[in-house]
Amino acid sequence: MHNISADDASQANRRWWNSDADAYHEAHPEYLQSFFWCPEMLAEAEAHLLGDLKDKRVLEIGCGSGPCSSWIAETFPSATVIGFDISADMVRRSSGTFPALLADVHRIPLAANSMDVAFSAFGAFPFIPDLTVALREVARVLRSGGTLVIAANHPMRWIFEDFPDERGLIATNSYFEQHYVESDEHGELQYAEFQHTMADWINAFHAAGFSIEGMTEPTWPEDLTTTWGQWSPLRGKIFPGTVIFQARLSEQLPPSPHQHRLQPPGAQ
Ligand SMILES: C[S@@+](CC[C@H](N)C(=O)[O-])C[C@H]1O[C@@H](n2cnc3c(N)ncnc32)[C@H](O)[C@@H]1O
Repeated sequence: MHNISADDASQANRRWWNSDADAYHEAHPEYLQSFFWCPEMLAEAEAHLLGDLKDKRVLEIGCGSGPCSSWIAETFPSATVIGFDISADMVRRSSGTFPALLADVHRIPLAANSMDVAFSAFGAFPFIPDLTVALREVARVLRSGGTLVIAANHPMRWIFEDFPDERGLIATNSYFEQHYVESDEHGELQYAEFQHTMADWINAFHAAGFSIEGMTEPTWPEDLTTTWGQWSPLRGKIFPGTVIFQARLSEQLPPSPHQHRLQPPGAQ
């Protein structure tokens, strides 16, 4: 169990992504030149997980330098695309083809019901302790019936150590209650990543008013030889590294978690 608050995680991850922005872009030039959902190089141009974005208001969560939003802006000129990210050094590398805001997923600086579609390709969600809080904030800015698509680390990955080779094939860690943190010599948090189990995801979508309409576990392509951190052809052939959820915001909001406390004694 951890006791890391959302603000502490955001502060640490903002610092970390600022300091890693150059190295990240140098390490993944091919991935960052178009809209790929994940290290398995699933392209939105082929997957069409967001559907036709003509005339749609689209929000990217944790956009980094925005290769995905740039692709949308070029492919669907009539769409309104906005991205946001917590790291100024990631955002400042964006192409300028869409507005990129500096913001935390816990406090999105947009009006309620202002977007039709929201999505994230490994942005923000792996780095927050509580999915429900963040998904409720996304639900606030989406119109009812709006679409949300999120790609993130597959929950089963946490049982393995982060090695791309045979060492990463041995299950050594508990699936439950995990997080990974780095601190400096003074004990100050520098990086925080959180395990969200499959139940965490499904329950959080439900609590925030979304219904899950589809799930994708991208397979490793035969011709993809790239190793990216712990992602590798060896592991990719055996188990998934990414899960992508396609969800829709219900027309009716779910009951507030505090609703029952407001009812008078004896009320149903
Ligand atoms: C793996 S990168 C993905 C970025 C982009 N989708 C890409 O493929 O380059 C993760 C991004 O999430 C951002 N991030 C982390 N925590 C966040 C938060 N609480 N709110 C918004 N963005 C966050 C980081 O700054 C980083 O740019």
